[in-house]
Amino acid sequence: MALREILRFGAETLRKKSKHVKQIDRRTHELLDDMAQTMYAAGGVGLAAPQVGILKRMVVIDVGEGLLELINPEILSESGEQIDEEGCLSNPGEKLPVKRPMQVRVKAVNRMGKGLVIEGEGLLARALCHEMDHLDGILFIDKALPPSELPQEAL
Ligand code: NI
Repeated sequence: MALREILRFGAETLRKKSKHVKQIDRRTHELLDDMAQTMYAAGGVGLAAPQVGILKRMVVIDVGEGLLELINPEILSESGEQIDEEGCLSNPGEKLPVKRPMQVRVKAVNRMGKGLVIEGEGLLARALCHEMDHLDGILFIDKALPPSELPQEAL
């Protein structure tokens, strides 16, 4: 395992669309291992492959409930909404309010190639949406709410 360099906002790679993973092999496992190690070392709750310069549809997430490794994740459904401060390991220090669904159902494949469905709520739903956005070149600053759109109780 090795720590990988995390790209910062401004890097072109972060704006590109990642490719579907067609074959899961030793290098896929190595990348997942490195991504998890890099995420934990940086103190984050999620990391997407493009953040370490690899344009493949892979994310790792741990919101304190154990490590999730998702290959080719897709949102099946979402419901509710939540507004909370959000940050990104590619943009340390800045947190902005972003509206996300309160619940999401996501399908993906694990490192063994087995299909799985994740039901995320609250922070996990937020992390899933944030990391999956990275796979399409979307950053949380694109979705940050201007102060005029914040609910009164959040001000
Ligand atoms: Ni991020």
